[in-house]
Amino acid sequence: MRVTCIGGGPAGLYLGILIKARYPSWPVRIAERNRPLDTFGWGVVFSDATLENLRAADEPTQREITQAFAHWDDIEIHFNGHTIRSGGHGFSGISRKRLLSILQHRATELGVELNFQTDVTDIASERDRCDLLVGADGANSRVRQSLADEFQPTLERRGCRYVWLGTTLPLDAFTFIFERTEHGWFTVHAYRFDEELSTFIVECREETWLAHGLDTADSQQTIAFCEALFESYLHGHRLLTNSAHLRGRDWLNFTRVSNERWSSGNVVLLGDAAHTAHFSVGSGTKLALEDAIGLADALAGAESVGLGKALEQYEVSRKLEVLKLQNAARNSTEWFENVARYATLPPEQFAYSLLTRSQRIGHENLRLRDTTYVDRIERWFGGRAVPPMFVPFRLRGLELQNRIVVSPMDMYSSVDGTPGDFHLVHLGTRALGGAGLVFTEMTCVTREGRISPGCAGMYLPEHVPAWKRIVDFVHASSRAKICLQLGHSGPKGSTKLLWEGMDEPLDEGNWPLVAPSAIPYAARNQAPSELTRAEMVEIRDAFVRAAGMGVEAGFDMLELHCAHGYLLSSFITPLRNHRRDEYGGSLANRLRYPLEVFRAMRMVWPEERPMSVRISATDWVDGGVNGEDAVEIARAFKLEGADLIDVSAGQTTPDAKPVYGRMFQTPYSDKIRNEVGIATMAVGNITDVDQVDAILAGARADLVALGRPHLADPFWTLHAAAELGYEEAPWPVQYLSGKEQLERLVARAKDAAS
Ligand SMILES: Cc1cc2nc3c(=O)[nH]c(=O)nc-3n(C[C@H](O)[C@H](O)[C@H](O)COP(=O)(O)OP(=O)(O)OC[C@H]3O[C@@H](n4cnc5c(N)ncnc54)[C@H](O)[C@@H]3O)c2cc1C
Ligand SMILES: Cc1cc2nc3c(=O)[nH]c(=O)nc-3n(C[C@H](O)[C@H](O)[C@H](O)COP(=O)(O)O)c2cc1C
Repeated sequence: MRVTCIGGGPAGLYLGILIKARYPSWPVRIAERNRPLDTFGWGVVFSDATLENLRAADEPTQREITQAFAHWDDIEIHFNGHTIRSGGHGFSGISRKRLLSILQHRATELGVELNFQTDVTDIASERDRCDLLVGADGANSRVRQSLADEFQPTLERRGCRYVWLGTTLPLDAFTFIFERTEHGWFTVHAYRFDEELSTFIVECREETWLAHGLDTADSQQTIAFCEALFESYLHGHRLLTNSAHLRGRDWLNFTRVSNERWSSGNVVLLGDAAHTAHFSVGSGTKLALEDAIGLADALAGAESVGLGKALEQYEVSRKLEVLKLQNAARNSTEWFENVARYATLPPEQFAYSLLTRSQRIGHENLRLRDTTYVDRIERWFGGRAVPPMFVPFRLRGLELQNRIVVSPMDMYSSVDGTPGDFHLVHLGTRALGGAGLVFTEMTCVTREGRISPGCAGMYLPEHVPAWKRIVDFVHASSRAKICLQLGHSGPKGSTKLLWEGMDEPLDEGNWPLVAPSAIPYAARNQAPSELTRAEMVEIRDAFVRAAGMGVEAGFDMLELHCAHGYLLSSFITPLRNHRRDEYGGSLANRLRYPLEVFRAMRMVWPEERPMSVRISATDWVDGGVNGEDAVEIARAFKLEGADLIDVSAGQTTPDAKPVYGRMFQTPYSDKIRNEVGIATMAVGNITDVDQVDAILAGARADLVALGRPHLADPFWTLHAAAELGYEEAPWPVQYLSGKEQLERLVARAKDAAS
């Protein structure tokens, strides 16, 4: 097979090496527009795990790279006059020039034809002249552009500017420096990559960059500016540039590249041409090299299954891993774009938030890296060395013994709104299971406001004692508190029980629906009628009545459900609210009714008991509610006296395109908490203690709700405590023998594993 590779960066060169090492008879040609060591940038980093992958793929290259490495373990953070250090991070740096030189050398040795100073412009004829054309031509790939219809790329230009400089300053840790100017924050990402030199990347927001006039600065002026700004850290060392050949382009914007497809016919994309990951997760070169391994592996099958299938296999083998890293990189990118948001945190928490920003490193993972650091942060967070999830939390007069919450979950098992034995056992067991706070399911304020005939309610007199029985049990038998979630289904009402068909209308016995506008939730759902003002008042009063009944039943906390496309959520999202009166149009207008309901409920809900609001922080569609709106929504409820925002997302339209993943909604909680200054609860695909503690200690939320994990394990909190070796968890006295046995088993398993 004749292979032509456009681009002689890490991806192209490494692919050439691997192909030649495995299939020596295949002619491989690499066309590179630059001269051999004509490169931008300074150093790149690899984790220990990446090096292991390289060893398995081609040991001689790995050996050479390893010999040229500068290795370090610590991360050092300079912020507001504080220096915080954390160890055990295990990274190695190498100069990009040195890396390219090693790869060029090995490629030549194996017989790869390297054509330097060859700028390929005619992709179509290159494609015709070989069996496989590889686009390894970087983030601005011409191969990708020329076949854009086939690859369907998405390019997302991010809002910060960065300049990649070098320095002779010797660093013994990966170093982050944060420096505030009159126009905003500057961040330095710096690390040593050989005996004499360190990479020194300076980054700031676009408006900060413009306000400092850096858009008109030449390289020397940029250097002078950065040297002055970071003078106290440079200790007389100079900053250096090697981007002279990129004149006028010192400061770049990072572009996130992704492609719907990575191959088309005999053309395939590799490395940055296929996907980019922000430099703050230091994984671009790793991904490029691992792509090359994936492609070389897949090509082994080209003769038997055909080239097309082999290229598909390559894409399948790499895409998920790349997506995970791109998601982590997105979190990291956004963190650095929003330094000002975190700069209000105490230095300890600022640093912890930075270390866990990508959501890839959790609390226990950090502990493995540096026990002393984690002990210190735990002492700071909880006043003593205790896992963050077991640190009590106070909202008004309500003291929660820990930060774990059983998320509201509809059980579709009530009869005309009355919760029964199932609810007693279901909620009672979860209260015994150790969570600090247990939520009821969405409890509907009218019969017509139910989602399904099985939904719980608070609209008949008999609902009060039925709920009180459950509340009394929780209070008498556990240390958990219980929160009543009140809602009205609006356009998503009159549907089947969950397991009979989600959001599907009933086969018979449907009741009429109401909504801000006469828009059915989905084509198959009934069209609701547009609420009149008189009906709005009636429903508001139903919320108030239900809140009063909640007081009678003895609930500790009250939540107003303004999420997931139900009635109040439908007022807030522009996708469902097309009203022309003062309740539609601007966000302030769309919020008017939900705020009115909240305000009226707050008046009857006891002063010392807290109230929260669940919101959909994004509709996951263009033109819907987004993160910026979510901040305004939270701010508006805070002004009305909300104590906590329960940050969910989506379910407001069937057209939503959620970006699922671990903790996928948590970044919205982080944003709201730290921009509005209100307590938040994070929820959504949070499944383990490591994630929970990192969310809490990293100031991304104050409480963490787990839904499905509590369906699978009512004793999630007690099990977590045993796993962490935390002995003070609130086991019911009746179960203490189980506690002792579990702790013994966990200790034994740990001993066996170590
Ligand atoms: C500031 C910054 C810091 C970074 N830090 C790190 C880090 O610490 N660790 C890390 O792993 N990664 C880092 N990266 C990312 C890393 O540089 C890239 O992800 C990596 O180089 C991708 O390799 P590649 O071979 O796909 O693309 P590139 O390295 O961009 O190589 C593409 C090559 O194609 C050539 N080319 C382009 N068009 C043509 C054409 N038409 N004809 C011929 N040749 C062409 C180019 O000259 C170039 O040599 C950083 C990136 C930036 C911007
Ligand atoms: C069976 C089930 C019923 C749910 N019912 C409700 C509800 O009544 N009110 C609500 O706000 N969210 C409801 N949710 C959403 C959960 O509270 C939670 O936000 C969601 O499951 C994501 O969290 P998880 O990944 O921990 O499960 C429900 C989820 C499930 C699985």
